[in-house]
Order: sequence, then structure tokens, then C-alpha cells
Amino acid sequence: MKFLKRLFGICETPMPGDPQSWSVQNGSVHIDLTRMPELMVPGSGVRLEGRGIDPRLLVFHGDDGQYHAIANRCTHMGRRIDTIAGSNTIQCCSVSKSTFTYDGQPVGGAAKKPVKTYPVTRDGEALTVSLSNQG
Ligand code: FES
Repeated sequence: MKFLKRLFGICETPMPGDPQSWSVQNGSVHIDLTRMPELMVPGSGVRLEGRGIDPRLLVFHGDDGQYHAIANRCTHMGRRIDTIAGSNTIQCCSVSKSTFTYDGQPVGGAAKKPVKTYPVTRDGEALTVSLSNQG
């Protein structure tokens, strides 16, 4: 089943269950962690898509305890990227399994170019992803 998901490029990472857990204003994505249990544990992540953001984002809680945001398009053929808990890396959901560091650098698989990263700041239970300042 996992192979079939990879073949069709079906990722493991969910969209947020609570649509009110995030919003887009003034070139930034605002996330209310109290409404987004998907980001609770290190190694977890959510897909943020729509609402005028381009490119779509993968926001994740890294194994390093920090929150990160990247453009959720693999630089090989554009498929979505998943977190890989316990590996300090993220990985494309396709069969070629391009793997990237948290700062977007390719370290395995077919992709040879980095994925875009975006700065994430935390203030209490609020995260802000700045889309205008590429990290
Ligand atoms: S699209 Fe990501 S490895 Fe091919």
C-alpha cells in the first residue's frame, strides 16, 4: 500500500483538522497552536494549501524541537513532502524519495536543487510564517 501511495504521489501529511487554526494576512501565515494538534509532537507536520498562498506549504515541528516551513513542492517533479520522524530530514512522497534537510538542502533521492524555506517565529502559542522573506 505504501508503494502504491508513493507511485501516485499521495502524501502522509494531513491538512489541519480545524480550518480556523490558521489564516493568511499581510504576507504571513498565522497559526494558532492551541487549535492545531497536528503539530504537537516533534516529527509532525501539516500541509497548508489554498487561501491564496503560493506555493503550498509544509509546516512542521522538527526533531530539533523547532518549527519550520518549506515550499511543499519537491524540486524533482513537484510532489508533496512529508516529515520523517526521528530522522532530522523530510522526504518527498514519491517513489524517488528525495530527502532534504530542515533548511531545504537535498541529501538523497532524485532532487538536486534545494526547496525554498520560510522563516517561522513563535510567540507563545502563535506561529508566524513570513512568506515575503525567503529563508
Ligand atoms: S517528485 Fe520528489 S523525488 Fe520525484
